[in-house]
Amino acid sequence: MLKIRVFLLFVFVGGLFVQTRADEGMWLLPLLKQQRFAEMQALGLKLQDYDIYHPDNSSLKDAVVVFGSGCTGEVVSPNGLVLTNHHCGYSWIQQQSSLAHDYLTDGFWAMTKAQELPNPGLTVTFIEKIEDVTDYVLSHLKQDPDSTGMNFLSPRYLNNLAREKTGPAFLQEHIGVEVEIKPFYGGNQYFMFTKKIYSDVRLVGAPPSSIGKFGADTDNWMWPRHTGDFSVFRIYADANGNPAPYSETNVPLHPKRWFKISTQGIEDDDFAMMIGFPGRTYKYYTSWEVAERRDIDNAVRINIRNLRQEAMLEEMLKDPAVRIQYASKYASSTNAYKNAIGTNWAINKRNFEQVKREEQEKLILWSKQLDKPEYPKAIQTLERIVSARKDLRFRSWMLDEALSRGIEFASAPVTLKPLIDALNGKDKAAQEKEIHFFSTLVNHFLNKNYSPETDMKIAKVMLKEYRSIIPAASQPAYFAQIDKQYKGDIDRFVEAIFKHSIFGSETNFNAFIKHPTVKALEKDPMFLFAKSVQDERKALTEALNTFDTDYASAHHDYVKGLLEMYGDRANFPDANSTLRLTYGQKKGYAPRDADYYQSQTTLEGVMEKEDPNNWEFVVPQRLKDLYDARDFGPYCLKDGRMPVAFAATTHSTGGNSGSPVLNNKGELIGINFDRNWEGVGGDLQYLPDYQRSIIVDIRYVLFIIDKYAGAVHLLEEMDVK
Ligand code: ARG
Ligand code: ASP
Repeated sequence: MLKIRVFLLFVFVGGLFVQTRADEGMWLLPLLKQQRFAEMQALGLKLQDYDIYHPDNSSLKDAVVVFGSGCTGEVVSPNGLVLTNHHCGYSWIQQQSSLAHDYLTDGFWAMTKAQELPNPGLTVTFIEKIEDVTDYVLSHLKQDPDSTGMNFLSPRYLNNLAREKTGPAFLQEHIGVEVEIKPFYGGNQYFMFTKKIYSDVRLVGAPPSSIGKFGADTDNWMWPRHTGDFSVFRIYADANGNPAPYSETNVPLHPKRWFKISTQGIEDDDFAMMIGFPGRTYKYYTSWEVAERRDIDNAVRINIRNLRQEAMLEEMLKDPAVRIQYASKYASSTNAYKNAIGTNWAINKRNFEQVKREEQEKLILWSKQLDKPEYPKAIQTLERIVSARKDLRFRSWMLDEALSRGIEFASAPVTLKPLIDALNGKDKAAQEKEIHFFSTLVNHFLNKNYSPETDMKIAKVMLKEYRSIIPAASQPAYFAQIDKQYKGDIDRFVEAIFKHSIFGSETNFNAFIKHPTVKALEKDPMFLFAKSVQDERKALTEALNTFDTDYASAHHDYVKGLLEMYGDRANFPDANSTLRLTYGQKKGYAPRDADYYQSQTTLEGVMEKEDPNNWEFVVPQRLKDLYDARDFGPYCLKDGRMPVAFAATTHSTGGNSGSPVLNNKGELIGINFDRNWEGVGGDLQYLPDYQRSIIVDIRYVLFIIDKYAGAVHLLEEMDVK
């Protein structure tokens, strides 16, 4: 009997394999039932589809939120407690930190609600409603004259349609509610999202970075992993539970739904699913776009960031103040850098160019048989565009990586028009106001997270590299000065502009702001430098934009062709920061011949990696004491070890950080925070044998809150079994 069942399951699941790989897919919740539900149940899911997503009643999806602008979070208590990653809370924890109370280093725990810290600018967004509005959008697109040809993808155009559809009264009556229409499949389908946005979100707890960021950049994008990458926030609302800006009188939100938490863990091959907001993927790339990504975008990024990070790290290691100032910048720079390396590895290792070429060729053949010339034509257009924009794209990536993002003073205020106008005018009050505004801006830039010495050092490295690669005629115009005035000596040039610029030091700025004149601004070297970089940025953007309309329309047609060819196969659209579900199993993997990584890590591994002389692998004393005493409470494995992280075959990407990972009953078993570097190429093409989501085990989270931080009151709010 059992044998027959297993056999049937195999046939059944196997049948679907032919369509898309079992673990591949970032599925839209409203389509779950028709697309994937049977397979999820066959893998062990015990819920009904409406438990996960219900169009009218509360369901699991109501406990999943967008955290800030690029992460996911989950509600875990009836008092609006939210879990997300440490790296998602990082910049907020950094904002709250100073040398006097360094929450990045020491962690932070509010022992009462009064101690919870407000974070102006941080929001948490619930998705209230999801509707397929394809017909509505298409009928409007037909009626509207579209001079740009880009309306079908334009957020402005689509969001206007969304607001028209709900009507102004709805939005006025519902505080904090916004509507949004997003294109899917390159604009072949549209969904509308009704969102509720809360803006009083307070920091409740964070482990020290030696737990929350353990392994830091060396371990980032790596498995096996030993990071307790979580932080705790709370949503506040007005007395009626509506979104409201921070106010002392706000109260903790009583949410529609919060996750139950399971301390039972799961075993290898057990079902796991994740709900969250994956940012961007490129599944529908052609072979030429794959090569472009590898040879231009990623290649430039890898080369430039490597140099920049070396310079930055040297300064950070020299000075603790710089370390705090640059912690977040450094982390986000290395993050995309390592991702680019992993993506290029996968593109080559798995020959993604060939994979995509086969898909194109299949479509061409199919289109010929059925007489659909528009699809082969779209493919040709994509090939032509990639070839035509090659040079511009390279210059644009070099400019962005080396100058616009690489050098901070390249963004020294260049839009000074209001100040200049005020200084030219006679109105004293207006002048005061503009000067004040401008000072705040510059002071913030100079003081908060900026070290002129660090920027100077980086600028020298960046300019040398940029000038050795990009021909003089294609550089920002102001760079001619480097040759004319400084005989090409970049070090002298950089030192001089720091010495003379208003933005070069606080002293210079304070002297200027006492007697601000238009003339001083207009001949300021940093201002001229920044302006020149931005002018070049604008020119390149304009030149590249001339390809946009053709590209968008060819991509739209290409995806349309693939969908038509695949018929009723269950497809999923590329990630676009909308709510998705991915499911799979807890599983290890073989990174190379004769090697195998297990799916679960434990505190033993933290102790193995410990290195008191390397900031990335310092283990806090308190954690060592708990380890030595085996004081793991009810959170340990059956064999007595303390779980830390696990790996699963779920198909996740950037934006899924902080996503709840659930067992077959929909209970929270972990918080997603990363992928292995061998798997990041999954953004272009899912890699079943390599790709793993990296998830912090909820038992480690609870252990840290309970035993390490002693914040037992938080556990009491949660529904832990
Ligand atoms: N790689 C993860 C993601 O893309 C985590 C990044 C934060 N950690 C770090 N060491 N930079 O977001
Ligand atoms: N670490 C990523 C994030 O922040 C997740 C990933 O790329 O897998 O969203």
